[in-house]
Amino acid sequence: MKSTLEIKGLKAAINGTEILHGLNLTVPKGEVHAIMGKNGSGKSTLAKVMAGHPDYEVTGGDVLLDGKTILGLDPDVRAREGLFLAFQYPSEIPGVTIANFMRAALNARRPEGQEVDAVEYYNELYKKMDLLKIDRSFTSRAVNDGFSGGEKKKNEILQMAMLEPKYAVLDETDSGLDIDALKIVSHGVNSLRGPKMGILVITHYQRLLDYIVPDVVHVMVDGRIVKSGPKELALEMEKKGYDWVENLATV
Ligand SMILES: Nc1ncnc2c1ncn2[C@@H]1O[C@H](COP(=O)(O)OP(=O)(O)O)[C@@H](O)[C@H]1O
Ligand SMILES: [Mg+2]
Repeated sequence: MKSTLEIKGLKAAINGTEILHGLNLTVPKGEVHAIMGKNGSGKSTLAKVMAGHPDYEVTGGDVLLDGKTILGLDPDVRAREGLFLAFQYPSEIPGVTIANFMRAALNARRPEGQEVDAVEYYNELYKKMDLLKIDRSFTSRAVNDGFSGGEKKKNEILQMAMLEPKYAVLDETDSGLDIDALKIVSHGVNSLRGPKMGILVITHYQRLLDYIVPDVVHVMVDGRIVKSGPKELALEMEKKGYDWVENLATV
């Protein structure tokens, strides 16, 4: 069995406009990959298509999780299959604590009658929180209710730690990525990276890659990956600018 998250010739459209024009990318389990690209290149579109967002129409290609297509599966089934997307639960849920929400999310992935034991659950939760250096009081807060950018990131990273996905995709838009949030995300990714997980970090924010050192960097221009390389590619891009990669896309 292949242990990869594989995106093959993916084409996707919104409102009849094609945004992804045949995108190829493979993230092997155990590696951290980064996608960089300027605003509007289609990074968030890719994340949303992988999540199964209903507004996007896949018009070609495939997304394979360990060799099996996930296109056509409902978003929650994709999650159960082991795919995690950081913006999965973006809305505020007043009155529901993070601890209870996360327990419900874990239980949803288990067969009926095999819910997680409460003591076991809290042991695991506190273990993960210690690993991520998240204060215990955090889990009694209501989900996303008045959260700062950094707190939203804490919530996402903690979810990722608890759900233990096979592949995690983090779409790091600039909004909310202040230095505090940047450190939370990078510390989280660096603590959770390991042989059991493939991680794809999407950003147009060069600085994130000073904290998360990726195994491979991919550059996205106009709905395609135009260049892939080792971590030094991010530095080269910083020096030469996005115009340089745009020219690569046209040759
Ligand atoms: N809901 C939408 N309707 C129409 N066009 C959209 C929509 N969402 C995104 N787009 C277009 O798709 C392109 C890629 O956007 P996006 O995936 O958000 O890029 P990125 O995340 O790289 O900044 C942009 O040209 C944007 O205008
Ligand atoms: Mg985006």
